[in-house]
Amino acid sequence: MAYLALYRAWRPQRFIEVVGQEKTVIALRNAVKEGRLSHAYLFSGPRGTGKTSIAKIIAKAVNCINMEQGEPCNHCSSCNDINNGNFMDVIEIDAASNRGIDEIRDLREKVRVLPAQGKHKVYIIDEVHMLTTEAFNALLKTLEEPPESVIFILATTELQKIPATIRSRCQSYNFRRLSTGEIIARLEEVASSDGINLDQDALYIIARRANGGLRDALSTLDQVYSYKGSEVSKEDVLDVLGLVDDLFLAKLVDAAINRDTGVVIDMLGKALSQGKEAQQLAREASLYLRDLLLYLVIGEQAEWSVVSGESQPWLEKQKAKIDKNQILKALKILTDTTDKLRFSEGQKFLLELAFLQISALFEETVVSAATPASPPVAKKAKTVPEKPVKASRTEAGDPFWGKLLAGVKEKKIPTHALLVQGKLLGRKDDTIYVGYKKGYKFHKEKMEERENREIVKAILKEITGQECEIQFIFLDDDQYNDIIVKKAIEFFGEDIVEIKD
Ligand SMILES: Nc1ncnc2c1ncn2[C@@H]1O[C@H](COP(=O)(O)OP(=O)(O)OP(=O)(O)O)[C@@H](O)[C@H]1O
Ligand SMILES: [Mg+2]
Ligand SMILES: [Zn+2]
Repeated sequence: MAYLALYRAWRPQRFIEVVGQEKTVIALRNAVKEGRLSHAYLFSGPRGTGKTSIAKIIAKAVNCINMEQGEPCNHCSSCNDINNGNFMDVIEIDAASNRGIDEIRDLREKVRVLPAQGKHKVYIIDEVHMLTTEAFNALLKTLEEPPESVIFILATTELQKIPATIRSRCQSYNFRRLSTGEIIARLEEVASSDGINLDQDALYIIARRANGGLRDALSTLDQVYSYKGSEVSKEDVLDVLGLVDDLFLAKLVDAAINRDTGVVIDMLGKALSQGKEAQQLAREASLYLRDLLLYLVIGEQAEWSVVSGESQPWLEKQKAKIDKNQILKALKILTDTTDKLRFSEGQKFLLELAFLQISALFEETVVSAATPASPPVAKKAKTVPEKPVKASRTEAGDPFWGKLLAGVKEKKIPTHALLVQGKLLGRKDDTIYVGYKKGYKFHKEKMEERENREIVKAILKEITGQECEIQFIFLDDDQYNDIIVKKAIEFFGEDIVEIKD
């Protein structure tokens, strides 16, 4: 038998099985029980919080032959057919793939036809915010003159994208994120019924990472289970999710606060060599700092992002050594770095630099005017080169780039053809950075070949009189032209100066 994903196997089949969303559940169940359902509903809220599940429960309950107390029986032929997707009068439309006017026109025609099988036709339109304006208008017409016995349930994660005209025709229910406690309770139920053993920390991490969505929590459980089997520890979860241990984060931040830069560099190096992602490390370290900030402000009642039982004692130790302002500055450094890491290949260096900058916040001698780009401690560390000497901003008709291209063209036309598809991002120290859109992988890789690289370096030397290095980088954005200057500025910081030629 095919394996059924946990989140599907555990779709609530009755109102009483729904986790959280109490007000919504009570109101809807009463409406079903008393036969006073409205003809249109709008369910909004984060992913995986029960919108589609509840829509299906309603569809079953209104068609169920043995409906009791507003609940579907899940055994009669209607319930079975709906559960198996074979019920003609329950129509699920995914607006993300049926966005247009034709689909909605089609719906408008069919809506008038009386239910074939059941008592009520129920249209469940998922991701309804994806409809085009024309489609919304067509839908509005139907909602304005609702046919008897039809119920529309529109579901969306993006309420703000639903036109007010549609909203005003529907009864709205806002689904909330589920709390960590609610998610843990459900995970425990699922795990114990499926014979999976998880320790508390493992549960806690899965629940917190799900960010209020039960589908994500169950998918993670599925993933961990299929990699690691039925005994699941905290390490297993961290490993599968590529996360960093919170105790590691506590120690790392502690070393930074104590200005143990050697320890910091060492810890980062080890984590990277174990396969942790630099960006993930920066992001998780900022979550730890966020927890520390909350601890300073509201103490132990805070809902932690990464801190768990093991690392919590470190918060108390660190509280005495750090003030809010320093945490905010450190957070700024880390979030900036997380952004840069998306775009850079010098990952290790950028990460080290960020932590050295954070360490520098704790130097007694640091004056507040010191720019974070050149903390005194950064100069001490061997791994950190001088701050940028020269960098150029890219502009469409940049004379430097023009010269470079012309020079390359003269030497070898095929190389020019490859290079011209890139964009000059800027120059830092003696390295020139050229960016390629994702679709230009071939060009980037060809340019990285020795022969092409040498041609460019030779021309660079002619132009600048210096030995230069050249780095090719992928740009991860499609709206490349608009953002390229901004990215270059982000990357090179405020020390941008034009190259004088
Ligand atoms: N409130 C909940 N109670 C119990 N299980 C839930 C709940 N919310 C989500 N789930 C679990 O997550 C799965 C997906 O939920 P559902 O399809 O209802 O989410 P959704 O809100 O429609 O999400 P999306 O916006 O991504 O479509 C369910 O099959 C179930 O396993
Ligand atoms: Mg859904
Ligand atoms: Zn039934």
